[in-house]
Amino acid sequence: MTSPHAFHMRQRPRRTRQSDAIRRLVCESALTVSDLIWPIFVREGENAEEPVASMPGVMRFSVDRAVAAAQAAADLGIPAVCIFPYTDPSLKTEACEEAWNPENISNRAIRAIKAAVPQMAVMTDIALDPYNINGHDGIVKGGKIVNDETVVALVKMALAQAEAGADILGPSDMMDGRIGAMRDALEAAGHQDVTIMSYSAKYASAYYGPFRDAVGATGALKGDKKTYQMDPGNSDEALRMIARDLEEGADMVMVKPGQAYLDICHRVKSEFGVPTFAYQVSGEYAMIEAAALNGWIDGEKIMMESLLGFKRAGCDGILTYFAPRVARLLSA
Ligand code: PBG
Repeated sequence: MTSPHAFHMRQRPRRTRQSDAIRRLVCESALTVSDLIWPIFVREGENAEEPVASMPGVMRFSVDRAVAAAQAAADLGIPAVCIFPYTDPSLKTEACEEAWNPENISNRAIRAIKAAVPQMAVMTDIALDPYNINGHDGIVKGGKIVNDETVVALVKMALAQAEAGADILGPSDMMDGRIGAMRDALEAAGHQDVTIMSYSAKYASAYYGPFRDAVGATGALKGDKKTYQMDPGNSDEALRMIARDLEEGADMVMVKPGQAYLDICHRVKSEFGVPTFAYQVSGEYAMIEAAALNGWIDGEKIMMESLLGFKRAGCDGILTYFAPRVARLLSA
């Protein structure tokens, strides 16, 4: 059959879109369960689960429930969980000592999960905000976030987490020199196999709002985090931060938030070719959930499409609160 029209049609890109089978064959990017890191919130108590109001479907787990959640995630094939602590307000101080307490809620959760589900990689967060009476990621002195004293504290925190059995340390504090200081301390303490996924390009973002509610830091924070987290207008600076953190000993790097920063993910992966991750943060999750709960969008489809976007942009993996739901859908 020739075209009834007077033009030649040699290229018909629709040919490769005509059936599910052919579409699947030519598909360039795929999301798999191996791409997922599941952030979970832990709190005191036993057999307790408490919903986070601003993140429908997300819970704060007592340690025993966190272990059960990690076991369920492992059964679904999820390779890693990332632990965030909800710290009792009475434990927050100016010096943030609770951050490196071997018995703090986060370190207890690491040990309990590694004991029960050893195949699960356990990632941590390194920043002082859950333990800081000022709500900042660093130590505050005279109204300023002091860099070098904070790094000393962060190194102690990193060592306590490594001692507890963490597989991946996640410094999210954005202080200068912390990756090198942690790497040296890990080597000296015989923790040479502990990996570091640096939050290298972390922006001062309003998308973290619901998370601060989840870890109980919302009321505490005085001011903003603009003297350490990056300006959302900057892109070259992100590449400089990645180069620096790799040089200082990071094994993997992260861009955060995710969706509004996919250009950064793409630049990082194409310029460095290193393991690149994105964090689909609390505000991104809350926006999708809110619209879905109102019936305005198909939440499940948007969840999958938003995550596929990270893969297409070049990410090797994504931290996402959707992880178990995605895993269930992928295995259905
Ligand atoms: C702590 C930290 C934050 C997040 C991860 N680690 C909050 C912040 O920097 O204020 C945000 C995660 C999310 O929004 O899901 N420094």
